[in-house]
Amino acid sequence: MATKNYLLVAAIDFGTTYSGYAFSTREDFQKEPTKVYLKQWVDPAGSSMMYNKTSTCILFDESVNFSKFGFEAEAKYQDLIMDNEHKTWYFFRRFKMTLYDKQSSGDGWFIEDETGKQLPALVVFSESIKYLKDSLLEEAKKQQTDIRVGDIKWILTVPAIWSDPAKTFMRRAAVEAGIDTDILTIALESEAAALFVKHLSIDRQLDGKGGDLFRTFVPGSKYIVVDAGGGTIDITAHEVLNDGTVREIIKSNGGNWGGTSVDGEYLDFIKCFLDFFCIEKALP
Ligand SMILES: Nc1ncnc2c1ncn2[C@@H]1O[C@H](COP(=O)(O)OP(=O)(O)OP(=O)(O)O)[C@@H](O)[C@H]1O
Ligand SMILES: [Mg+2]
Repeated sequence: MATKNYLLVAAIDFGTTYSGYAFSTREDFQKEPTKVYLKQWVDPAGSSMMYNKTSTCILFDESVNFSKFGFEAEAKYQDLIMDNEHKTWYFFRRFKMTLYDKQSSGDGWFIEDETGKQLPALVVFSESIKYLKDSLLEEAKKQQTDIRVGDIKWILTVPAIWSDPAKTFMRRAAVEAGIDTDILTIALESEAAALFVKHLSIDRQLDGKGGDLFRTFVPGSKYIVVDAGGGTIDITAHEVLNDGTVREIIKSNGGNWGGTSVDGEYLDFIKCFLDFFCIEKALP
């Protein structure tokens, strides 16, 4: 099968707490594989600091029309709360992990927003991916004016440890967002990270003059990548082969032990502590 001559490769990292994207032209990739355009995001509620990712939050109005995504969704929802108008809107955050252990097909999956109102999971995920896709296209057009969705090879990353139905669901959501299935690759987050690491100069060697020298991993090197995210921790182990490609030493592994589970445990601890304190105070 002939490979299409895509003008760009674009990658969307859809995270539990933060999401972002990057893209690279064929020319740039051949010159410098790690050179990518990385969208910078500003949090309107905070300082004017720039971030490589925006928060994974999405806001719909009362008629379920898309309103905002990311830091902008958080800021607008805050305003709605201040004006006590938020109860009819739909605000979703940290919803990626609802797919974590899904074992059946995605039909009929619903997710709850901050106030307990439900929407189909496919609407929430596809509108989020659509926002990121449209934003990426807008940025790409600043560099190549007449670029279209079909000129781009799209990569959407998912945790390696997700079930097959969950991975299939992400593909459906992307197609719903306007990315045709034949121009889309679902990649595993931890494997993408492991391949990226192979291009970095991080292997420490002695330079023969008493100093250190850093270079990319030589054939025979083995390395482990631990991607500690908000939802999952994914672990991979690879070996660099003589032809420069890499071999997976063991199957990707991990679990739902990300930062949000630490937040959850901490909140439970505070609740327990306060309950105990209140009971103690109530006792005669
Ligand atoms: N210094 C830190 N120590 C511990 N946790 C941190 C630190 N900085 C960020 N975090 C946590 O890391 C998480 C964000 O990491 P990251 O952006 O890699 O996750 P993600 O891509 O959204 O999640 P996932 O890949 O699991 O879907 C947040 O939960 C945040 O609380
Ligand atoms: Mg991540």
